[in-house]
Amino acid sequence: MTCIRSEIIGHGHYLPAKELTNDDLAKIVDTSDEWISTRTGIKSRHVAAEDEYTSDLAVKAAQMAIRTANISAEDIDAIVLATVTPDNTTPATSAKIAGKLGLKVGTPAFDISAACSGFVYALTMADNMIRLAQAKTVLVVSAETLSKITDWTDRNTCVLFGDGAGAVVLRAKEGNGTSEDTGILATKIYADGSQYDNLLSNGGVSTTQTAGHLWMNGKEVFKYAINSLTQAAEEVMSMGGVTSQDLDWLIPHQANVRIISGVGQKLGLPEEKVIVTIDHQANTSAATIPLALSESMEKGLIKKGDLVVFNAMGAGFTWGGALVRI
Ligand code: ACO
Repeated sequence: MTCIRSEIIGHGHYLPAKELTNDDLAKIVDTSDEWISTRTGIKSRHVAAEDEYTSDLAVKAAQMAIRTANISAEDIDAIVLATVTPDNTTPATSAKIAGKLGLKVGTPAFDISAACSGFVYALTMADNMIRLAQAKTVLVVSAETLSKITDWTDRNTCVLFGDGAGAVVLRAKEGNGTSEDTGILATKIYADGSQYDNLLSNGGVSTTQTAGHLWMNGKEVFKYAINSLTQAAEEVMSMGGVTSQDLDWLIPHQANVRIISGVGQKLGLPEEKVIVTIDHQANTSAATIPLALSESMEKGLIKKGDLVVFNAMGAGFTWGGALVRI
C-alpha cells in the first residue's frame, strides 16, 4: 500500500575550529590520555570560541545540508532544532537559525529539549509532520555548545563532552509501505522521569536563574544506556519488519565507546557495522548522530539504499530509535 515517507535528501555537519586533546585536558585537571581513552574512547573534542554560539554551529551544518540536498532555503517548510544549549532562554534558537538562513517568513520553527536523544525526537516530530502532509521539506538540526555548561574543574565530567552540529533535510516521497522504501521506516521515543536526577544540569531558569553545570551518576547512566539503546534499536527494527542481519549500519549516540560496543554486541552486529566518531568528537549530545551520519556520508561510507538504525539515550532519561533507509 502506498504511503508517504520522509527521505533524507541532504546532510551537513560542523565542528568548531578549536580542538582540545586529552593531553591538553591533563594540563587543566588531574587526568591522563590513558584514563580518558581506555574508559571512554575519546582522544579529542572540539570547543566553540567564546563568541561562537549554538546557532552559529547550527547554521553551518544546516547550510551544508541545504547544499547537499540541492535545494534553496526557501524550499524549507519547517525547521526543528534539538539542543540543550540554546543561545537564549527564549525565543527558540531555531527561530534565530531560520532568520540567519533566510527561511521564508511564516516557516514554523521550534526547539526540542531531549538531551542526547534530541535528534531522534526531532526526527520523529519532523517525520510525523511530513506524513501528516503538514510539511513537504523539513530541516532537522542538532547543535550543542556543551563546553559552556561544563564545569572545567570537574574531571568526572569535563573530559566527556564536546561541541558540534549536524543536520539533515527530510523531504516527502511516496513509498510502497515496505522495508525496501527509502526514507524513515520507523521511529520510537521513550522517557523515564524517575531517572531525572541521575543526569542533569544543576541549574535552570526556574530554580537557580543560571544555566548550571552538567552533572551525572555515571554508573547508573552507563547501565541504563546499554539496555535502553538496545531496546530502542530492537523495537524500530521489529516495527520495520527487519532484523539486525539486514542492517548495513548502526549509528548509536556517542557517549562512551564501551556503551557503543556493548550495544553492538547485544544486537549481534559485527564491529565494522557500528559507526564510531567519539574518538575525535567526544559526546556532543543531540548532535552526535547527525554529525556521524553526515561525516560517514561525506566519506562515502554510508551510501544511498543502506539500511541504518539510529539509537540514542540521554538526560530525562529519554531514549529512542529510528530505522532509516538512506
Ligand atoms: N581522570 C582520571 N580519573 C578519573 C577521571 C578522569 N577524568 N574521572 C574519574 N576518575 C576517577 C574517579 O574519581 C574514580 O577514582 P576513585 O576510585 O579514586 O574514586 C575512578 O576514576 C573510577 O571512576 P568510576 O566512576 O568508577 O569510572 P568508570 O569506569 O565508571 O568510568 C565514566 C566513568 C566514563 C563516566 C563511566 O561511568 C561512563 O561512561 N558512564 C556513562 C556516562 C556517560 O557516558 N555520560 C555521558 C553523558 S550521558 C549520555 O550521553 C548518555
